[in-house]
Amino acid sequence: MIPIAKYTTAARFYDVVSAEYPVYAAGRTLGIEMFGLAPGSQVLDLGCGTGLNFSRLQRIIGPRGRIIGVDRSPDMLAQARRRAERHSWANVVLLEADATTLVPHEVADQITSSGAAPHSDAALATYTLSLMADWESAWANMLHLVKPGAVMGVVDMQKPSGLFTAMTPLARAACWLGGSDIDAHPWTAVERDCFEVRAAAARGEHLQIRVGNRPGSRLQPPR
Ligand SMILES: C[S@@+](CC[C@H](N)C(=O)[O-])C[C@H]1O[C@@H](n2cnc3c(N)ncnc32)[C@H](O)[C@@H]1O
Repeated sequence: MIPIAKYTTAARFYDVVSAEYPVYAAGRTLGIEMFGLAPGSQVLDLGCGTGLNFSRLQRIIGPRGRIIGVDRSPDMLAQARRRAERHSWANVVLLEADATTLVPHEVADQITSSGAAPHSDAALATYTLSLMADWESAWANMLHLVKPGAVMGVVDMQKPSGLFTAMTPLARAACWLGGSDIDAHPWTAVERDCFEVRAAAARGEHLQIRVGNRPGSRLQPPR
């Protein structure tokens, strides 16, 4: 894997080099709008990175809400912490964990010890599941860390189509640089496991957004 894809020393440049405004901001904006969150909601941001979702979430959930950011990279979390401090957001909880191997009840205990509810009202993963060879395990863990009926959102990338097909080499290069598998299509998990699924796309279908609700009964997490 190339250095930037390890999200270590490159973390402090991530917001600048990640093509956020020309391309990727559109997906997170749409996804968070489609969430339909209420003020006071608690949101799990899996693979939160430097916290690029936080300001959009904060505008909706307000100070009574909470963001639980989970990432395996301490350097990306350090940037997210700086962002929270800069904005004086006291409602952001940041946890270092590998989304594919974390033990849900242990993470839920950590979340509780920070004063938040163990299970969130919503969970999202933006441009993150396609980095994980075992993204299905990360998705299963996401389902274990939310309440029954919670809103689940996945925003991720695929090859562009239509008029944007000519952009495919650029999209492939961006995914390669970031360590993503452009053919992973992790939003299919939302279509498979959730109900009331809403779909959207942006940037010539390169960005795929799926939002749905987790089925009703509490899953039995592996202990
Ligand atoms: C492309 S960045 C996206 C960050 C953020 N979600 C965003 O929308 O800007 C991918 C993030 O996923 C994190 N990540 C990759 N594999 C992970 C794993 N197995 N568990 C937790 N985080 C992971 C990386 O450390 C990085 O911060």
